[in-house]
Amino acid sequence: MDNLSTIGNSLPEAYERTKDLKSFEESKAGVKGIVDSGVLKIPKIFVRPSDELAEESMHIPSDSLQVPVIDLGGAESGHDQHKTIVSEIKRASKEWGLFHVVNHGIPVGVLDSMLDGTRMFHEQDVDVKREFYTDGRMKKVKYGSNVDLYRSKAANWRDSLTISLQISDGIEPDELPEICRDSTLEYINQVTKLAQTLFELLSEALDLEPHRLGDMECAKGRTFIGHYYPPCPEPELTLGTSKHTDPSILTILLQDQIGGLQVLHKNQYIDVNPLPGSLVVNIGDMLQIISNDKFISPDHRVLTNQVGPRISVAGFFTGATIPEIIYGPIKELVSEENPAKYKEFSVREYISKFFLRPIGRSGLDEFRL
Ligand code: OGA
Ligand code: NI
Repeated sequence: MDNLSTIGNSLPEAYERTKDLKSFEESKAGVKGIVDSGVLKIPKIFVRPSDELAEESMHIPSDSLQVPVIDLGGAESGHDQHKTIVSEIKRASKEWGLFHVVNHGIPVGVLDSMLDGTRMFHEQDVDVKREFYTDGRMKKVKYGSNVDLYRSKAANWRDSLTISLQISDGIEPDELPEICRDSTLEYINQVTKLAQTLFELLSEALDLEPHRLGDMECAKGRTFIGHYYPPCPEPELTLGTSKHTDPSILTILLQDQIGGLQVLHKNQYIDVNPLPGSLVVNIGDMLQIISNDKFISPDHRVLTNQVGPRISVAGFFTGATIPEIIYGPIKELVSEENPAKYKEFSVREYISKFFLRPIGRSGLDEFRL
């Protein structure tokens, strides 16, 4: 580092940033640690680049467009509502790539306990959280802040607890933090069943047999991330989560009642307002690829807020890593007139590419033909 800092004019500043990132990381106390220290201004590592901040004024919030809300009551095949629900999902997945679901079958108590457990994990003594702090990617349960800390232009105002069921498709209770153990196990079970139902409906929405996506093990390879967005003293200068698309087949997101999530639709950011008891379903990059662009993986982001904390839990369904499956545009969806737009890939290949890019650059580009 010493000899590096003497080269060029811009380096001393870059060096300071690296130093600040390092001391933030070494605190192992996350953004919550900064807030607890009582700051009135956010540290520089969180401040968005000035060109991005200037562009922000061009995003005029719009109330005229509303994220679709789909009522899953009566989604079972054979029920009167089934066909209508499939066509609503088809439309929402094509036009928005993101929608709310209500009457999804998961009791509100299970959702609330998951949010409470996540909040309690992040609000417990920092020494307990530190036991889960790791930069090794192989751990099933990890606590940390900003996985792309050294690659992004600005750090996000958010801490996360990651539960990865990628390596083995299950978890023993004692592998989970005690404070959120039962609520997490219950939520994971229930949301996985919902994912299986959604994959059947999405298969039909692609005019495929109901079991087509399930047979490709789309509901396998699960990662759950419990996000904690502390209140922010200068919310206009930073983001809770930068603009990105999800590196998954499908994401099911549980959010509390604070708000801040926005989806980019027709070049405008639209608020994904909290709707009590609902879940947000988000088409990921891999489903855009598998559907050969019939469905879209939308850009989205999270604003910060002076109130809070805000809690959300993102459940990413990425497809099976073990045994490895090759994904690509589904053959029934390609023809001579409509050729495949993407190369084939394995989930492992996809995810490892994802971790080399700054988050925010869509993974679709890597595989487009
Ligand atoms: C994500 C994400 C949104 C949220 O984890 O990919 O977009 O509301 N989260 O936390
Ligand atoms: Ni996301």
